[in-house]
Amino acid sequence: MGDQLYLTAEEQAMFDGEQGIAVRRAMEIVVALGKIYGAKRLVSIHSVQVAGVSYKNLGEAGLDFLREWAAQGARVRVPTTLNPAGIDIAQWHTLGFSATFAHQQQAVIAAYTAMGIEPVCTCTPYLIGNRPAWGDHLAWAESSAVSLANSVLGARTNREGGPSALAAAICGRTAAYGLHLDENRIATHRVEVHSRPVSLTDWGALGYLVGRQVRNGIPYILLADPVGTTGVAPTLDQLKTLGAAMAASGAVALYHIDGVTPEAQAGNVAPPKGAPQILIDDLTAGYAALNGDAEQIDLVSIGCPHASLDELTEIARLVEGKQLCAALWVTTARETRRRAAQAVTTIEAAGGRVVADTCMVVAPVDQLGFKSMATNSAKMAFYAPAHSGLSVRFGPLEQCIEAALTGKMRKA
Ligand code: F3S
Repeated sequence: MGDQLYLTAEEQAMFDGEQGIAVRRAMEIVVALGKIYGAKRLVSIHSVQVAGVSYKNLGEAGLDFLREWAAQGARVRVPTTLNPAGIDIAQWHTLGFSATFAHQQQAVIAAYTAMGIEPVCTCTPYLIGNRPAWGDHLAWAESSAVSLANSVLGARTNREGGPSALAAAICGRTAAYGLHLDENRIATHRVEVHSRPVSLTDWGALGYLVGRQVRNGIPYILLADPVGTTGVAPTLDQLKTLGAAMAASGAVALYHIDGVTPEAQAGNVAPPKGAPQILIDDLTAGYAALNGDAEQIDLVSIGCPHASLDELTEIARLVEGKQLCAALWVTTARETRRRAAQAVTTIEAAGGRVVADTCMVVAPVDQLGFKSMATNSAKMAFYAPAHSGLSVRFGPLEQCIEAALTGKMRKA
């Protein structure tokens, strides 16, 4: 194999087409990326998370590309999950999606299934069994999941694109560059936060502010009170919210929190002397940037990234015995929905919907008639105006549920 990228005998055979055209195409993508980024070798991967699942983003050209690869014999060789699709696979007809779009989306999922991928469509695979261990090499594509896997679990993945993640799944390898290497996991920015975020919206607003300044760097965050005055470390939900927001407003794929995240605890990733410093005194600017003007709320969207069991339980507590006025969609993984059966029953008795497999950024929202949204997610508030054409309000969960009960969200 040319240049400096070393391939094992088996990898060379795959590259030469000895395992068929589908594997050869996958190896061509993996090797090309390796050469572009100066990789010296490939690494075996433990799992893949593929983005590019919604027909809204893929279109007919993307569907043809998948069908062709599947027909050539493409099969994944490591556990692989999918990012959210454009519909809830089981409930699409009662949620208002058109049959045309649903059938196009089902064709996309059929193409992935033909490659041996379970149709598990979620951005939180780590909550439902695809939970990497420290040091595992991965090829994950969803930016919030990439951030969580790298930062909180200590696994190693670059922020893959849809085709490169799928190629990695088909050959079971990715090129060893970027965040697969120790030297590239050292922080680039020191971020001092002078107040401890409390609600999930606080963590999202903080992530928005940090991501906007750090862009694709690696922040080393010093919280005023890293384990809280009560000795409680940030929860997984808080960390997933923080990482999702940083990955949206910037392109942060890895962050460290002093005394909290595993590589910061291990002690080798602090930023070098002279690294840029960022001070965050309060979160007002983050809230202001993400909060729009709408007062009339058609839809309350919770679950970006996909809601955990704890979040579903908390939402159920807030709506129990009440009747909602606006639509409430709580998006989650199908498996989380199954595990949260009691909370689902309570939320749906109040008139809400617990929606699996999709989210309001990748769903064809224009088919659903919503014009304004309230959300507690900084990532959703960042993307929904451009991706879904919605006027968006950003506020804490309690305020969002109040908006679902009244159809209104007043500005403070
Ligand atoms: Fe997940 Fe959709 Fe948010 S993919 S992270 S719920 S934008």
